[in-house]
Amino acid sequence: MDDMVRFNLIGSSDAFCRVKEQIVKLARVDAPVLITGESGTGKELAARAIHYFSQRGDHPFAPVNCAALAESLLESELFGHERGAFTDARNGTAGLVGEAAGGTLFLDEVDTLSAKAQAALLRFLQDRTYRRVGGGGLRRVDLRVVVACNGDLEAMANAKLFRRDLLYRLNVLNLHMPPLRERGEDGVELADVFLERLAKQYCLPKKRMSPAGLQFIRRHDWPGNVREMENLIHREFLMNDADELDFSASLPALSATGRKSDGAPSDFRSAKVRAIAEFEQCYVSDVMSRAKGNLTAAARLARTDRSAFGKLARKYGYAGKVQDAES
Ligand SMILES: Nc1ncnc2c1ncn2[C@@H]1O[C@H](COP(=O)(O)OP(=O)(O)OP(=O)(O)O)[C@@H](O)[C@H]1O
Ligand SMILES: [Mg+2]
Repeated sequence: MDDMVRFNLIGSSDAFCRVKEQIVKLARVDAPVLITGESGTGKELAARAIHYFSQRGDHPFAPVNCAALAESLLESELFGHERGAFTDARNGTAGLVGEAAGGTLFLDEVDTLSAKAQAALLRFLQDRTYRRVGGGGLRRVDLRVVVACNGDLEAMANAKLFRRDLLYRLNVLNLHMPPLRERGEDGVELADVFLERLAKQYCLPKKRMSPAGLQFIRRHDWPGNVREMENLIHREFLMNDADELDFSASLPALSATGRKSDGAPSDFRSAKVRAIAEFEQCYVSDVMSRAKGNLTAAARLARTDRSAFGKLARKYGYAGKVQDAES
């Protein structure tokens, strides 16, 4: 399965080998795929692999984060607009659907689409035709739609929060990405690959995990899955001077006293900043764990709105990529 390494899909546990086999099968057929799985389990990586292994691999892969699209702009982002459609729309745009022609349109966090956006998507999926915002003729485009979500669309459809007719259209083929804690020794294998990459990236000698570090990898729950582990190792690689890493530089409990490694107290301001960061990290980890990696459910538990909690979660390595506005 060398090709899988080329697409960055690391892991040889039984659960993950089944995923890789399924990816190969899904790439051979040309129908919509619904990818499910907790935050950070590799849904986007899997979508990319399906695309590049498919006959559409030479055409574009166009990822869209539905949660990041403003409702008012969604239709024009997806379907483009004609020149002059808005006061500031001087030039027409092809929209993501136009840009993905021949390739794969990847709709991430599809469970966050508003009712209006769900209707627009359903219309498009029914006959692959669309009109740009602001008029113009009916256009037809040939592309494959792959969607991902970390919520339970079936439950959302039962609660009338997601259109059942759209769910049926999307859920022709299904791929479930298992959480890292159910992937046996994959955590250890991934850690090794990440450490090698980091050494190259920073032109530093390679570091290893200590026995305690490996133990931690095996025992931790990883509610933010691979992304959480990647971020933690990145931080540890930069902050821990030892050749063998044990996560002591990044784990909250070990540095909560506000003391530096030489035992001297640090200044008030940095101790406070660190204490807040540690609290936030623990809190986010706990809530994400209870919410089984589902951002919407986690925000509800924390009684904050989804975008505020999403921002906090991303800061600590949970949930999708940092959006432009926050970087
Ligand atoms: N099997 C894997 N091998 C190597 N890296 C992986 C693997 N799975 C995930 N990653 C890495 O973990 C991070 C998260 O992956 P990805 O963005 O695909 O997850 P996701 O399921 O889409 O997350 P979210 O639900 O938060 O959007 C990425 O940096 C990705 O490269
Ligand atoms: Mg994603």
